[in-house]
Amino acid sequence: MRMKAAVLYAQGLPRPYAETHPLSVEEVELAPPGPGEVLIEIAAAGLCHSDLSTIENQRPRPLPIIIGHEGAGIVRECGPGVTGLQPGDHVVALFVTSCGECRDCARGKPNICGASFDARARGTLMSGARRLARLNGGAVNHNSGLSLFAQYAVVMRDSLVKIDQDIPLEDAAIFGCAVMTGAGAVFNTARLRPGGEVAIVGLGGVGMSALLGAVAAGAARIVAVDRSPAKLALARQWGATDAFLADDDCVATVREATRGGLDTVIETAGVIPALELAMAITARGGETITAGLPNVNARLSVAPAAMVSEERSLRTSYMGSCVPKRDLPLMLDLYRRGKLPVDRLRSGFVTLEGMNEGFDRLAEGSVLRQILRPNG
Ligand SMILES: NC(=O)c1ccc[n+]([C@@H]2O[C@H](COP(=O)([O-])OP(=O)(O)OC[C@H]3O[C@@H](n4cnc5c(N)ncnc54)[C@H](O)[C@@H]3O)[C@@H](O)[C@H]2O)c1
Ligand SMILES: [Zn+2]
Ligand SMILES: [Zn+2]
Repeated sequence: MRMKAAVLYAQGLPRPYAETHPLSVEEVELAPPGPGEVLIEIAAAGLCHSDLSTIENQRPRPLPIIIGHEGAGIVRECGPGVTGLQPGDHVVALFVTSCGECRDCARGKPNICGASFDARARGTLMSGARRLARLNGGAVNHNSGLSLFAQYAVVMRDSLVKIDQDIPLEDAAIFGCAVMTGAGAVFNTARLRPGGEVAIVGLGGVGMSALLGAVAAGAARIVAVDRSPAKLALARQWGATDAFLADDDCVATVREATRGGLDTVIETAGVIPALELAMAITARGGETITAGLPNVNARLSVAPAAMVSEERSLRTSYMGSCVPKRDLPLMLDLYRRGKLPVDRLRSGFVTLEGMNEGFDRLAEGSVLRQILRPNG
């Protein structure tokens, strides 16, 4: 079938994207789903900083490619052998497909499934197939096995989790990346307990999801840190007990206000200075959890002796250490009961034609989650 999509031909074009147009809206060909694959109509897809990082060439990808890895939609056709889904079902897309067979999947870590990473590097689905093509026949790569900045997508069955039909798809979409990553870092990676304390450094879609997760988890102290005063004001409204500007005095100010730092600090900015700040406001004996994804060539310098003698640890969190089939229903249930008000993260809707401007706004830091509605 033919559909409209936003195709990325070149990484690293300069801003403003409204003028350089890294995303080109055009008709492409989408092949029908093969064995184990599913055709979905995309109802809503979020613009995540990881997509921006791909546009900026912070991480090289096989080109041309259709990006977009956070979204929700409706099943339209199931390929041979697909079980547990049928046309009309509502689904959230997962940016890591799990094979169910590898060492990581077998030990309950489907978020780091090795087979998924191999397929991602090749720009294919986990089946090895490429279902996308240009009208002239040229290949188009898949991104994270999803490629959601399009009207439709063919994805592996194991990239989808079925959800109840009463959940608005424009909110469900945000769960696919921001909420699983941010709230998951709080619930799963940090295992934050009621009465616990946490700081969150970087208050974008992911960081604000971590903040909402910390409120839901019953944290007693929630410290918010960002470079944007507007985001600090929002964080206070949404449950942060303290908010600090990430300026030169930030480390000293936070350490003084918290008597030496916090037990848990989660970094969700995606730049090395933010990670260094997060480590510096972590208390002795505490842990820094980083979920940000800086440039692939970025390096961090640490002093192991000080970390050891003060028993500080640095851990990482990918997709919120989630087991999506377990965690997505729990998080959606919290949302339904008003405990995880993810709808607050929506900063308006965009069309496929408005995507380049949307990424300008994300780069400026003036929005949280903009939602693409590719089918109007
Ligand atoms: N680990 C994962 O599974 C995963 C999943 C999704 C996104 N990510 C990554 O998480 C990061 C955040 O994504 P997002 O979509 O929320 O981005 P975003 O652009 O919406 O938010 C980033 C925030 O960080 C703030 N910031 C920038 N520099 C800072 C600094 N030095 N100190 C404090 N704050 C600073 C910005 O003002 C902004 O509010 C990105 O690096 C993204 O690639 C990781
Ligand atoms: Zn993302
Ligand atoms: Zn696997």
